[in-house]
Amino acid sequence: MPKILRLPGFIDIHVHLRDPGQTNKEDFYTGTCAAIAGGVTSVFDMPNNLEPIFSIEALEKKEREAREKAVCDYGLYFGTDGKNTELFEKVARRVVGLKLYLSLTTGKYVVGNPDLVSLIFKKWPKKKNIVVHAEDESIDLAIRLASKYQNRLHITHVSNKYSLKKIIKAKKEGLKITCDVTPHHLFLTEDKLKSMKGFAMVKPPLASEDDVDFLWENLGFIDCIATDHAPHTSEEKKGEIPPFGLPGVETMVPLMLNAVSQERLSLDDLVRLINVNPQKIFGFKQDKETYIEVDTQEKYIIENKNLFTKCGWSPYAGWEIRGKIKNVFIRGTKVFSEGKVLVKEGFGKQVQMDD
Ligand code: DOR
Ligand code: ZN
Repeated sequence: MPKILRLPGFIDIHVHLRDPGQTNKEDFYTGTCAAIAGGVTSVFDMPNNLEPIFSIEALEKKEREAREKAVCDYGLYFGTDGKNTELFEKVARRVVGLKLYLSLTTGKYVVGNPDLVSLIFKKWPKKKNIVVHAEDESIDLAIRLASKYQNRLHITHVSNKYSLKKIIKAKKEGLKITCDVTPHHLFLTEDKLKSMKGFAMVKPPLASEDDVDFLWENLGFIDCIATDHAPHTSEEKKGEIPPFGLPGVETMVPLMLNAVSQERLSLDDLVRLINVNPQKIFGFKQDKETYIEVDTQEKYIIENKNLFTKCGWSPYAGWEIRGKIKNVFIRGTKVFSEGKVLVKEGFGKQVQMDD
């Protein structure tokens, strides 16, 4: 028996749509088609493009691409190498936050000099988030600086017990700090490296079963789920030096609905993690007429051939899912129905942040 449920449109605060620069992997159209096919109605795009979003010119170029191509709503991050801090006040209103790399990953934009890291925390406007990629001790550095300069700090893709324990401790001490985990760190473990090889290589790396259990057991300390949707081509992933990253914007909500059907979390938890908290943390309000309709009973298999992402593969191909996204509405318009995108490039709007 079908059971159709209306849920708010989900918000993915961490995607890499590769546009401009690497549109052979993804672009604002294909990436946002993948989003709506997966029940995601807003995406926040990261700044580690081939030409990083460290300048106003680069930001403007990206804003143009997004405005012309996106089919869902979107926000953009500004990036930093520590040498563009004089632009922070000027750009803050145009972006959802600042992304700071403290650990090495795609694009190699890590800020290694502690004085520059300190300057970044000092200069970034206090009302807006700094989203940090920090593994290992760099988490302590980020927490220390956010506490010193009173920043809003969000640690993204927390992947293991070691990192989450540090965050739980800081939260218990009353620090204003939030975090997210990715679906791949909730559903895949490091043993996948044997079977999937380069296709399972991601930063932070997939962790042990014990780590995954710890994330699930402590879902109450986790503020959001975000995909870190990082499309790379199959050819690259099969190559000698596979780039880090997994696609995921299209499969996050299905995987989570399936977990709800298995009673691993409640629907309320799901809405808290991928709708309510993203709005609270980043300070914006989603339109009431932005919602999705799902059949919580329908079963199907995730198949590469049905994906909208340009990279054309998923680490979850072959997985059986209970919970199918039927219809998606954005600001009152039906944008996706029964496997088809119904709106044209440019339908998506930039998310308006609260002041
Ligand atoms: O695996 C990753 N890939 N982790 C990141 O932090 C960045 C991403 C990418 O841009 O490909
Ligand atoms: Zn990322």
